[in-house]
Amino acid sequence: MTLKVNGQSYSVQIDPRATLLDTLREALYLTGTKKGCDHGQCGACTVHINGRRVNSCLTFAAMQQTAEITTIEGLGQPAQLHPMQKAFVEHDGYQCGYCTSGQIMSAVAMVKEPWGAEDGDVKEAMSGNICRCGAYPNIVAAVQAVRRIG
Ligand code: FES
Ligand code: FES
Repeated sequence: MTLKVNGQSYSVQIDPRATLLDTLREALYLTGTKKGCDHGQCGACTVHINGRRVNSCLTFAAMQQTAEITTIEGLGQPAQLHPMQKAFVEHDGYQCGYCTSGQIMSAVAMVKEPWGAEDGDVKEAMSGNICRCGAYPNIVAAVQAVRRIG
């Protein structure tokens, strides 16, 4: 099957039952997307499908053959970070970093969703992304910084 990821088409031969998460990591070697729980509870595997945030452990790759998939690798580059990546660095929005790509993918989609302006709205909107290190206050600060620049 063919998958379009970060603007590039990939031909992959995979088990039809393979999740998008496993396919990204094990067939395409895009390992920025992390596996935490593998059943929709932690958000570490968040990617964008047609611009919307999705837990990639909860969808089969075979279901996404016509979709535009974006992973953290497609968001920015070390020399040219996405504003949300920059904000996470500036606000110390991570500690171990395991949840971070999921947090950033979720946050980038979240700022385009109709949420209120308060910190509490960001906490609610980001509640599907768990951080075992408890970096939540700094994650909220990073997201709010990006929302302020619009
Ligand atoms: S690995 Fe997908 S939600 Fe936890
Ligand atoms: S930074 Fe460690 S899990 Fe979030």
